[in-house]
Amino acid sequence: MRILVLHGPNLDLLGVREPGVYGSDTLEVITTRLDALAGELAVGLDHYQSNHEGALIDRVHQAWRDAFAGVVVNPGGYTHTSVALRDAFLATGLPFVEVHLSNVYAREAFRRESRFADVAAGVVTGFGAVGYELALRGLVARLGA
Ligand code: DQA
Repeated sequence: MRILVLHGPNLDLLGVREPGVYGSDTLEVITTRLDALAGELAVGLDHYQSNHEGALIDRVHQAWRDAFAGVVVNPGGYTHTSVALRDAFLATGLPFVEVHLSNVYAREAFRRESRFADVAAGVVTGFGAVGYELALRGLVARLGA
């Protein structure tokens, strides 16, 4: 079973970007830890980050064409705005878990709105980098692997 781990805009800057909010782990470190967990769970991961909405949508379509089982996604700022990325999940029917490093409910009011949460298999928010691992465990359990 293959799962896509998808990161939206500005997450390439993890480690240097507002470490007080997002922690000091880089995307590379997060990716390495997720790969180790994937080994334990006996699933395969693909990782993709983009700062471009259309590129993220294309990657979801590709995952669907390639028969991926689901997606762990941190849509970054697109969480609060992207009807188009939401529609990509609805169009493909790919199950996904939404992840946020920060607790989006403890920040600005606009971050409390998600275009994804109501159609996600689950949402993990506020646990920093470990949230990706929780999301992967949750998604794999949901998929019955
Ligand atoms: C984020 C929260 C979003 O509000 C923000 O725009 C991000 C990161 C998080 O992981 O906490 O880019 O998704």
